[in-house]
Amino acid sequence: MTEQDFILKSYNSTLESGSVKWESPSNIALVKYWGKKDNQIPENPSISFTLSDCKTITEITFIKKESKDFSFDIYFEGKKNEAFKPKIQTFFERIEIYMPFLKDYHFKIETSNTFPHSSGIASSASGMSAIALCLMSIERSLSTVDISDKIFSQKASFLARLGSGSACRSIEGELVVWGKNESIEASSDLYGVKFEGEVHSNFKNYQDTILLVDKGEKQVSSTVGHQLMHGHPFAEKRFKQAHDNLAKLKTVLASGDVNEFVKIVESEALTLHAMMMTSMPYFILMKPNTLEIINKIWAYRQKTDSKVCFTLDAGANVHVLYPENEKAFILEFIKNELVSCCQNGHYICDQIGQGANQI
Ligand code: PMV
Repeated sequence: MTEQDFILKSYNSTLESGSVKWESPSNIALVKYWGKKDNQIPENPSISFTLSDCKTITEITFIKKESKDFSFDIYFEGKKNEAFKPKIQTFFERIEIYMPFLKDYHFKIETSNTFPHSSGIASSASGMSAIALCLMSIERSLSTVDISDKIFSQKASFLARLGSGSACRSIEGELVVWGKNESIEASSDLYGVKFEGEVHSNFKNYQDTILLVDKGEKQVSSTVGHQLMHGHPFAEKRFKQAHDNLAKLKTVLASGDVNEFVKIVESEALTLHAMMMTSMPYFILMKPNTLEIINKIWAYRQKTDSKVCFTLDAGANVHVLYPENEKAFILEFIKNELVSCCQNGHYICDQIGQGANQI
């Protein structure tokens, strides 16, 4: 597939109005995407677990209008939200070439999250993928040719990527790869693909408990962070390492070797933050309690035979990953030892999910 293949060529906008609704989950990367080229093309491949309960629910109501400019309103958790408008405006501008009907309609976008807005959990992956899916449903009802489910998901992922890179990994479950990598034949820089390799039962229903260490606004946005990988002294080595780690993870997912899984995943998290610390200007998104939690996880692993591990996204929060059969013990450990490191004692229990759903 090329970008050209995603241009809607044959449609009619005789439909006067309608409404579509999707729920789409967040995802957590195991091999991290950090650094991008123009048009949201990743510098390196990534793979993520799709989450189950951390979701955005979006309904788009559309009504025919005279074609001229984009026209839309956004309601977040029931209230009109002006702050989200510039992001959606940019998104519409980027995707208009692929969805030429966008100026034919006024859109009312109503959205809400299942997780608290001020939790520091990035809602861009679930939010952008939910909008992309709604727009695809509208496209499906306008298109004069049939859109297969495969093309539907592929284009939804392609559009979501143009909204926020990692959002392209939120359409399907349970594991999604984004970015061309030799070990994964179907992989593409343009959209996420469901990981079709073998997955050992050790990784079924893997758990992710998100410890909310800092709910404040990040000091440095992902957009700026990605840009700082241009001319970064370690960039090329890092991009190569991500390719190698993805190939290794593929083998580990098949063999069920959780010890190797832990090594790759924790190394990826720390490498992501090492890239931040060695950017110019440099920055640190971890907080003292992030390190406190990491050390406690390591100590717990040493004194038990637990396979619990951590990963981080571009922030201070810690994702605690563990096999389902350890759930009772790890939740005890979290309550006894880690909750004190969370802001207001807050954490969110989630697990691997199957991807987005139309509702
Ligand atoms: O999708 P963005 O531009 O917000 O970047 C997200 C990057 C990380 O969350 C740090 C890693 C990843 O692969 O999700």
